[in-house]
Amino acid sequence: MTQNSEAAAGKGLAGTTAVVTGASRGFGFAIATALVAAGAGVVGVGRDAARLAAAAERLGTGFVPVVGDAADPELPGKLLAEHRPDLVVLNAGAIPEMRPVHEHSWETFGLPWETDVRQAFNWCGEALRAPLAPGSTVVAVSSMAALRGGSPLSGGYAGAKATVRFIASYAAQESERAGLGVRFLTLMPNLTAATELGRVGVTGYAERQGVPVADFLAGRGAELQPEQVAEAVLGLWAGGEASGSVFTVVAEGVEVLG
Ligand SMILES: NC(=O)c1ccc[n+]([C@@H]2O[C@H](COP(=O)([O-])OP(=O)(O)OC[C@H]3O[C@@H](n4cnc5c(N)ncnc54)[C@H](OP(=O)(O)O)[C@@H]3O)[C@@H](O)[C@H]2O)c1
Repeated sequence: MTQNSEAAAGKGLAGTTAVVTGASRGFGFAIATALVAAGAGVVGVGRDAARLAAAAERLGTGFVPVVGDAADPELPGKLLAEHRPDLVVLNAGAIPEMRPVHEHSWETFGLPWETDVRQAFNWCGEALRAPLAPGSTVVAVSSMAALRGGSPLSGGYAGAKATVRFIASYAAQESERAGLGVRFLTLMPNLTAATELGRVGVTGYAERQGVPVADFLAGRGAELQPEQVAEAVLGLWAGGEASGSVFTVVAEGVEVLG
């Protein structure tokens, strides 16, 4: 266990710094909230300045808002050099446009590639080049959609999330080859209507099945909550799991895939 993970395990994160992308709402806000509560300083990235300012107001001085596009190739170099984070959570994600494959343009199909995949590519690359300090951790947020049947109404979403997982695993291999001691982990949450992105997906798939959203959700069992995703991220940071490991998170808990 690294010094950072010992600190996380003890919930005593004072003096540690995390960068969380997509921190203004949904999973990212819950992750930032849990980290700040545990004593970490959080640099939270989002595009909408007002939404990010509202998050900052709720979280207090432990949260430093940075307005920016997580897919911007200049951003990781700037933020990693400035803050030297112990933890980076690549959580920002585009909300897919919901329509069947033949009604997508290449641009709408490719939305999650332009945000989610570009983000993983740019940030994982920079974490290796900088490099981050030994013992630091990068968590790439993928999706369980990449494990099952894809995302037939969400364009390139599932494929993009599979590629996010691959990029994190390639980065883990390069970190090991170079002896950097930087861990790269992938977290794959289940679909949940508890966030804006998830609600769009659930509504689209319920409509496609011709059932009310409530019935669609009832058929899926307990619903994953953002706080559970946050708990999973803190647990991964605290745990001694090997770099390159992949985890699913559902309402019932976290499971390692390999
Ligand atoms: N909810 C689910 O069911 C589910 C399931 C599996 C995986 N995931 C993944 O979990 C992550 C978080 O999803 P969520 O459900 O919490 O989504 P959400 O509620 O829509 O929140 C997304 C956050 O990301 C920010 N964001 C979006 N694009 C950005 C960009 N280009 N640069 C910087 N920030 C950006 C948003 O703020 P701005 O719009 O202001 O930038 C917002 O803070 C995503 O990667 C998503 O694919 C979600």
